[in-house]
Amino acid sequence: MERNRAPKRKGVFITFEGVEGSGKTTQMNMLHAHLIRMKIDVVATHEPGGTKLGEEIRRILLDPAFANIHPLTEAVLYAADRAQHVYEVIKPALDAGKVVLCDRYIDSSLAYQGVARRLGLEGVQNLNEWVTDDLYPDLTFLLEIPYWVGLNRLRKGKKDLDRMEGQPEAFHEQVQEAYRTLAKFFPHRFVVLNGEEKPEKIHHQVMQEVKKILG
Ligand code: TYD
Repeated sequence: MERNRAPKRKGVFITFEGVEGSGKTTQMNMLHAHLIRMKIDVVATHEPGGTKLGEEIRRILLDPAFANIHPLTEAVLYAADRAQHVYEVIKPALDAGKVVLCDRYIDSSLAYQGVARRLGLEGVQNLNEWVTDDLYPDLTFLLEIPYWVGLNRLRKGKKDLDRMEGQPEAFHEQVQEAYRTLAKFFPHRFVVLNGEEKPEKIHHQVMQEVKKILG
């Protein structure tokens, strides 16, 4: 699983991962605001989406009307979105020496498509390494919460669940387990945080790690 690569870039690439409702978007926004206050050149983006083309792919992926998308089609659509995002947004920003924050990235595909959709980690990893030219994050924050806590947060916050959120509970449980496994596979870049703590406390832990990597 772990494959060693020398970093090929000037900037720093940080991703946020977790089950639905884990609070990763809140944490990414807090970090974004903090880095702006520190006058650091930072770009905040997300997947699926993050480009004009990607927002169209996102619409298809999350539309409950496409209930019967084949798991392989789903994996390839997420990868297509990612390829466009990497070449249009992420790589140019990293090449310009910026800090890039991304809400979900390759680990979402490994957890959701590789494990929960049962496509296998190796195939999904190979596909994603191919389309991203092996671009892995320098640092990945995993916001850990029990999957049902996240689903309850979502259900309270809005009425309609999207196609992925509306998957059976067993699916979300597998995603949760998959993330734990990924954190063990990639110990050099994963930082696991307790998503049930207060947002300010989690943010403090995020900042400690980010300061280490920014030097
Ligand atoms: P989004 O609304 O961005 O969810 P969240 O707020 O939880 O980040 O929807 C993204 C959905 O797509 C989410 O259910 C996770 C899923 N997903 C994958 O299955 N594979 C992927 O590679 C990515 C990026 C997301």
